[in-house]
Amino acid sequence: MHRIELLAKVHDRDGFDYGSEPLNLFLKQTARQHATRGISRTFVLVEEAASEPKPILGFFALNLCQIQSEALPPVEARKLPRSVAGVRLGRLAVSKHRQGHGLGKILLVAAMKKFLEIFSMAGGIGLFVDAKNRDAKAFYEHFGFVPLPSNEIQLFLPVATIQEALAEKG
Ligand SMILES: CC(C)(COP(=O)(O)OP(=O)(O)OC[C@H]1O[C@@H](n2cnc3c(N)ncnc32)[C@H](O)[C@@H]1OP(=O)(O)O)[C@@H](O)C(=O)NCCC(=O)NCCS
Repeated sequence: MHRIELLAKVHDRDGFDYGSEPLNLFLKQTARQHATRGISRTFVLVEEAASEPKPILGFFALNLCQIQSEALPPVEARKLPRSVAGVRLGRLAVSKHRQGHGLGKILLVAAMKKFLEIFSMAGGIGLFVDAKNRDAKAFYEHFGFVPLPSNEIQLFLPVATIQEALAEKG
């Protein structure tokens, strides 16, 4: 069984290899500083029975963001004020040797649940993500993210889609 935990000292940040050094460095050097300073929060996926230092199977980061509603697909922008709040999903990645076994989906569902916690307390129109490449974009589109007309690498998952997806999962 797996669990999602807030990144902490008990996690083996040095052992994580996603296959790209900038992302590895974010986890090793930046993520905890960002959490302390309120810039973002990083959550890691670990085996429930893992002993310390717990190997990190995958991770994602969340931070608050502000969006100009004119950048949204027109159907989503209707009746919104000019500037609205959302949550940015940053740097979702699965360890190089564990990709293709459902862990990316576990991370994404966890990010949606975290979004709904934020939504219940402070609102937010949905999750935003910058897809780093075509593969990443296809992954997000598979889960209902839609590209922003103003910037094709930025994708958006509206709150209604998140609520529906999580209600279906039960
Ligand atoms: C993209 C990534 C997070 C996917 O994680 P994963 O563990 O390999 O994916 P999963 O096995 O959980 O796949 C879940 C579902 O997404 C689909 N999927 C996975 N990668 C996909 C892709 N590139 N394009 C379209 N669908 C994809 C799977 O077929 C599966 O579908 P199903 O639930 O209908 O069976 C992972 O491969 C990764 O870390 N890649 C490199 C980092 C990266 O590009 N991150 C995105 C940051 S912008």
